[in-house]
Amino acid sequence: MTVTKSTSGTASSGPASDIGCGYAPFDHGPMSAHFQKARNEEPVFYSPKINYWVVTKRVDILEVFRDPKTFSAEIALSPVFPLSQSALKIMRDGGFDACPVQVNCVPPDHTRIRQVAGAYLNAKRFSALEPDIRALVHRFLDQLEGKQRVDLIKDFVYDLPALVIFLMLGIPDEDVPQIKRWADNRLLLTFGELSEAAQITAAHDMVAYWQYCRDLVAARQKNPQDDYASVLLAARAGDDAVLSVKEVESLVFGLLLAGHETTTNQAGNALRMLLTHRESWEAICADPGLIPNAVEECLRYQASVVCWRRKALEDVMLSGVRIPSGANILLATASAGRDEDWFADSETFDIRRENARDHLAFGNGIHFCVGAPLARLELKIILEEVTKRFPKMRLVEDQSIDMIRTIAFRGPSQLLADLNG
Ligand code: HEM
Repeated sequence: MTVTKSTSGTASSGPASDIGCGYAPFDHGPMSAHFQKARNEEPVFYSPKINYWVVTKRVDILEVFRDPKTFSAEIALSPVFPLSQSALKIMRDGGFDACPVQVNCVPPDHTRIRQVAGAYLNAKRFSALEPDIRALVHRFLDQLEGKQRVDLIKDFVYDLPALVIFLMLGIPDEDVPQIKRWADNRLLLTFGELSEAAQITAAHDMVAYWQYCRDLVAARQKNPQDDYASVLLAARAGDDAVLSVKEVESLVFGLLLAGHETTTNQAGNALRMLLTHRESWEAICADPGLIPNAVEECLRYQASVVCWRRKALEDVMLSGVRIPSGANILLATASAGRDEDWFADSETFDIRRENARDHLAFGNGIHFCVGAPLARLELKIILEEVTKRFPKMRLVEDQSIDMIRTIAFRGPSQLLADLNG
């Protein structure tokens, strides 16, 4: 390990090396190159900017994911930087009190809740959604017909995954813009670096978003339907030991976020990767049977979740580096996808790669993404239909691509394309 500079820190902080100081957690442009250097020179480094130990090798990341006794997920949704007092007050006064239910919940509650939620969120239910998803994709593609230049994010994949989640939650389509705004702000509040004024706006949005979920659950208590909240309420059957009402509300709140931002960003990343590697785009147009593996390669090469978080519950060694008990750990899952010890020629985008599916874009272990089968299905349908409809599509050359600024999520905020080449 190369540690050339050193600063003293708190019990759970670490030495600040060149690689640690050079890590720009919000800047997705140079990130892959930085992780590559780290994997080779300092696979576990300390980032003083965010006070996290960053783990970059696939083998170490897997070890952490698979050991929930030593590495707690309780930190997964904590704001990366402490929120301002005014933002906290707005949330407190607004009654925001969602409880940990999935990504940031730990056993035994996590085991119980994941099992109950699995009665609804499962592969069978997701595959039954296929005709609805295909119809939605057609609806968006129909709106693109006759246009030459479009923004593939705004005009195609921004609202689409939210509408799929809405099918499961029984929410009307017209609520999409509102919920997308709340969700965007929630992401920035938790994983971003907001000014105090922006935190205040986002805190108001968190309160409104939480209240929306509470109202939805209250409506289903009075009038059950065939949707997520109703199935959870039926499973609970009035018994808090199975699931409390607050947990149902928190599950709805969680799904309304987890289920669409990630997929929107992944669809944007996939379209961008495939269109910039023109031979891959032409290959999937000619042979749609290549699409499922192309989806995996996009997840490996350019995942929408770049990092995920854990807290060390005891002193641990990873790649020869001692991480102290209580330390924050950032698992660079995007780096695992490029790990040259696992993926041959790992910096090459190859939709025929045999082990593409070994990426860690959906995590691993007890918190492995519940929605992975749904995300895979949506991405497959999006690519099948768009390649059929607009095979000549090309990205507008020399456009500057802005990525959303959070430590965990990566996706283009705009992607201009000419539909007929
Ligand atoms: C490309 C899209 C997606 C990506 C990259 C993604 C990624 C992730 C990651 C990294 C985790 C944390 C895993 C861990 O801690 O080990 C996670 C958890 C989760 N995801 Fe996804 N996700 C995606 C789509 C979805 C969708 C569509 C849904 C909903 C249907 C969903 C629901 C969840 C839930 C509920 C969890 C928490 C599981 C638990 O803690 O038990 N995700 N996802």
